Amino acid sequence: MSLYSVYVAFCFVALLLVLAYTGWLIYIHTSPFHVAVNRIPGPKYFPIVGNALEIAGGLDHLLHTFQIKWAQKYGGIYRIFIGTRCFIPISSPELMEVILSSQKTIDKGTSYSELIPWLGQGLLISSGDLWRSRRKLLTPAFHFSILNTFVEVFNEQSRVLCGIIGDICQSFADGKSEMDVYPFLAKCSLDVICEVAMGTKINAQTDDSDYYKAVCRMGQVMITKFQKPWLENQRIFSLSALGKEHDQLLKTLHGFTEDIIRKRRKSFIYVSNNNEKNESGIKNRLPLLDLLLQASDDGKFLSDLDIRNEIDTFMFEGHDTVSSLMGWFLYCMAINPDCQENAWTELSGVFDNSERDCTQEDIPNLKYLECCIKETLRMYPSVPAFERTVQEDVQIGKYLIPAGCTLGCLTLATHRNPEVFPDPLVFNPERFFADEANGRHPYAYFPFSAGPRNCIGQRFALLELKIILSSLIRRFKFEFSSDAELLIPSHQITLKSLTGINLIVSRRCNQ
Ligand code: HEM
Repeated sequence: MSLYSVYVAFCFVALLLVLAYTGWLIYIHTSPFHVAVNRIPGPKYFPIVGNALEIAGGLDHLLHTFQIKWAQKYGGIYRIFIGTRCFIPISSPELMEVILSSQKTIDKGTSYSELIPWLGQGLLISSGDLWRSRRKLLTPAFHFSILNTFVEVFNEQSRVLCGIIGDICQSFADGKSEMDVYPFLAKCSLDVICEVAMGTKINAQTDDSDYYKAVCRMGQVMITKFQKPWLENQRIFSLSALGKEHDQLLKTLHGFTEDIIRKRRKSFIYVSNNNEKNESGIKNRLPLLDLLLQASDDGKFLSDLDIRNEIDTFMFEGHDTVSSLMGWFLYCMAINPDCQENAWTELSGVFDNSERDCTQEDIPNLKYLECCIKETLRMYPSVPAFERTVQEDVQIGKYLIPAGCTLGCLTLATHRNPEVFPDPLVFNPERFFADEANGRHPYAYFPFSAGPRNCIGQRFALLELKIILSSLIRRFKFEFSSDAELLIPSHQITLKSLTGINLIVSRRCNQ
């Protein structure tokens, strides 16, 4: 090929590119969709990639760009494109109210599709009438009177957790040990939710549990997949080593739940007929699975697959969120020793320095602890963001959001708004004292989401958290090494530290 023909080919390609770019510019300035979304402030975007290059990188970078950099630069609502998909992240309490209180914007966003192979059309993902009927069916399972029956499980698993951490501390001459507390918390919350949802003990804290390993690994696989956009293509993914591992993990996870459902169905029929203790010997404590089995009417209303999807959803939602919060809570206590001492003093008063269980009657007396939990959820919300799909055009504030956009509810950015929470990076539980919180916009703080699609497990989670965290703070002191770097939060399905939660733990000397 002569130099001249290379030159002609180059000019031709350049001309094509210029024409394509001009066509694209005309399109984004005239199509009603783009005209509508371009009224919303946001960074300049490019054909094909949109703004994807700006968020490429680590998961901490992703969180920072969405929730801090862009939210601070463009304000309470902005617009970006990831590829050709339009995202509208929101952190203004007034606009959040419009979205979360509406019955129209209740469908989940595209990111949830990663969870479908595992959770199917369980409560977190389903939409429309299916979601409405399941929500109605499952709501009674979280009634106050039922939650009471789980207090024993929370205490039992807290005792196991404290025993394990206590033994590690004791194995050191000075009774102090530096450890990543996160895996211990994760195993504890998984033991709790397994017993509550399925009526089965997996003893993740004390034994080697394949189910625990599969749950943890599945989370990592989903994050790795998210970081490699070329694996979005289902064919490429299923041929990759990661895709094969994903399928194997699914088999383990689904196989475990299916096995329990099968066994429980048999013992459930036995319990219904005999009205006696159930298989596990526990009286009056009905796991969520029994409620579903009852409602299924032998497969007429809910198939075994429907039940599996709901149980897997509870396992997923009820474990990762709780362990994320517990990790950040202990970190906040460690770097704010005054707050830890206040919490400990409150607990010493309530429990008189004994090691007795925490009861429902104690809960209203744990006011300062509750404020510390709320403040942790403000600074480090377990679910830092969630999505809604716009199915039909909707007016949000002064903007018309066309169908097809994805709304991003930025919990972390909203919770760190200095106009609502002055000095947002300072951990201050007093923000949640009744007189301080009075008059705050109801949608300025929503760690459990809000409106019709809020977290069904909110009261369950708070009760569990108060019992486990009070047990830990009563017995142990948590410190942060003076030469360690502060932890960096990252969006890994839930909010997690990039480097674990390494703390120095010692037993309280009065025990
Ligand atoms: C610290 C603990 C928790 C936090 C911060 C939390 C937060 C949330 C948030 C923000 C949502 C909305 C997600 C979205 O719209 O995509 C949600 C939904 C949900 N949560 Fe939780 N959650 C927690 C614990 C739990 C527990 C313990 C359970 C079960 C026992 C649970 C079950 C669910 C379910 C089933 C949904 C879907 C509800 C629906 O769409 O109707 N969560 N949670």
